[in-house]
Amino acid sequence: MSANTQFDLQQFLATRTQTVNRALDKFLPGDKTRPATIHKAMRYSLFAGGKRMRPALCLAAAAACGGREADAMPLACAVECIHTYSLIHDDLPAMDNDDFRRGKPTNHKVFGEGIAVLAGDALLTQAFEIAAQAKGWPRYPHRDLILEIAKAAGSLQLVAGQVADLEGEGKKLSVAELRYIHERKTSALLCCSVRLGGMSANCTVAQLKALTDFGYHVGLAFQVIDDILDVTQTSEQLGKTAGKDVAVQKATYPAIVGLEKSRKIAAQLTAKAFAALKTFKDRAVALEALAEYLLKRDK
Ligand code: IPE
Ligand code: IPE
Ligand code: MG
Ligand code: MG
Ligand code: MG
Repeated sequence: MSANTQFDLQQFLATRTQTVNRALDKFLPGDKTRPATIHKAMRYSLFAGGKRMRPALCLAAAAACGGREADAMPLACAVECIHTYSLIHDDLPAMDNDDFRRGKPTNHKVFGEGIAVLAGDALLTQAFEIAAQAKGWPRYPHRDLILEIAKAAGSLQLVAGQVADLEGEGKKLSVAELRYIHERKTSALLCCSVRLGGMSANCTVAQLKALTDFGYHVGLAFQVIDDILDVTQTSEQLGKTAGKDVAVQKATYPAIVGLEKSRKIAAQLTAKAFAALKTFKDRAVALEALAEYLLKRDK
């Protein structure tokens, strides 16, 4: 398993991060727009320096299906808004109670809990406003795009995973229960990002199925790696407080199956993601490179 060596992922990520940031900047109200506090708070977390993996996956999926990245851009921005909202709320004292995120003090540390809750609410809502500005395609009208995002973010997926994550603290869960959490709190939005990229290229039903298979497995691998990094990396490296999962007895892969087995599982999930891309032939270079990078990442 190895991605096309001709493909320059660093270059891809640097340029796409720049275009995504520019687009986000245009979509969001300026930080002087009243009430300025909320727009400052939204922008603070959004532009704090995330890896922009969900937008990158969305754009790469569009490319794999022969679409134009510009058409996928509103959807790439929408998923990043949802992701950032989920991080702001995830860090609140009532949830994971974290002080650092993306190398900076968390939103509630800077703006207070009330504004942090509202900044999350506003980013979640902003995501739908941005997604509504996507073109819509013959096979995927607006209704489908909005449903796609609503389902991934809602109480059956992302929110469900966060609920089970909180309720799992201090408990010894089975691997199946942990899988339930990871599918929902993380894989759902990553899978949605990939699928939206395909939809923006008016992809075929078969292509969408392959992208779903890819996104699901990459999404699961992503959270296994996140759990591993929490154990193996420093806070400086991660830009968020390391070692927190053990401290609060979170249900994680390293806690349940150990570090070595966790690494094996992440590699197996990534191999399944790779296999799903076969039908795209060499059009999927960016997706392949991203999957490999996500497995080997150190932050
Ligand atoms: C962190 O996501 C939260 C998880 C779902 C594991 P990322 O690792 O993508 O965070 P940023 O966007 O780079 O900050
Ligand atoms: C976060 O999972 C998942 C969501 C925000 C939906 P974690 O709680 O493991 O993420 P980090 O480690 O704080 O980034
Ligand atoms: Mg959490
Ligand atoms: Mg957390
Ligand atoms: Mg984590």
